[in-house]
Amino acid sequence: MKTNKTFKIGDFEINRIGFGTMRVTTGSGIWGDTPNKENAINVIRTAIEHGVNFIDTADAYGPYTSELLVEEAVRPYKDQVMIATKGGFIKYQPGAVLPNGHPYYLRTALEGSLRRMNTDSIDLYFLHKVDPNIPIEESVGALAQLQREGKIKHLGISNVTPEELKRAQSVATIDAVQNAFNYADRNAEDLVRATSARDIAFIAHTPVARGNWNDPTVTKAGKEGMTSNQLALSWLLHFAPNIIAIPGTSSQTHLMENLQSYTLKPESYEEA
Ligand SMILES: NC(=O)c1ccc[n+]([C@@H]2O[C@H](COP(=O)([O-])OP(=O)(O)OC[C@H]3O[C@@H](n4cnc5c(N)ncnc54)[C@H](OP(=O)(O)O)[C@@H]3O)[C@@H](O)[C@H]2O)c1
Repeated sequence: MKTNKTFKIGDFEINRIGFGTMRVTTGSGIWGDTPNKENAINVIRTAIEHGVNFIDTADAYGPYTSELLVEEAVRPYKDQVMIATKGGFIKYQPGAVLPNGHPYYLRTALEGSLRRMNTDSIDLYFLHKVDPNIPIEESVGALAQLQREGKIKHLGISNVTPEELKRAQSVATIDAVQNAFNYADRNAEDLVRATSARDIAFIAHTPVARGNWNDPTVTKAGKEGMTSNQLALSWLLHFAPNIIAIPGTSSQTHLMENLQSYTLKPESYEEA
């Protein structure tokens, strides 16, 4: 089966292996500065030079340090890359976050991202997580208003159910959904199908399961002459044409290994 290498969000054609910056740009617990800023910038720039044109960040990563570092890394390539960021999730200590989907908070969060990213308009802005105390229509409605004001080009929602997607679509055009989805965790399969049917991008976060694979995955990959991460990324690319995988890495070697997954496909994905 042939699979497309790209998927379009609006007029922008995205290569379906992007880059997630949550870990490489922050310290332990997704908190504070990266211990190795030079490496983080180098690995992001190498990714772009090898065709990655979708970079994912969020104000909660650091908080703020990831957005600042991504802005610096992408600066020489600004027009070539779609940057996605997120708001609505407050990082208040290492390893701990709280959703806040109040319209006034989302406006403040977005203004902060615009300043840090040195832009008038965010390419793709996600509601990071639905606030259980605020109806999703209110949070997404507030983002749709910011989009009408020109501060957001494309709107997305993250960590949602198919039902929440429907509710969000009742108040805004949703161009992307971002949930966990990988070879070992297929809980979002219904959401992948729902977005695929509506031509909405599905951004698969945690696509290589942080490198923690169970035995069958590793065995299957070994038999096919690829690594388990490559098998997992190849599986995602073939699962549905709207999936964009955003593996994060601090290693140039792992980056290259991940990008090779475009051309690798086992005889079948499941264990015999
Ligand atoms: N929307 C949300 O709520 C949400 C939640 C989680 C993540 N995300 C996004 O998704 C992105 C990816 O998620 P993630 O970082 O949690 O999980 P991931 O991409 O599945 O795993 C990243 C980890 O796997 C390792 N890795 C990557 N490629 C490898 C390879 N080829 N061989 C060996 N190890 C490899 C990396 O270590 P090395 O540095 O050693 O390579 C890193 O520690 C994040 O950066 C973020 O942008 C979003």
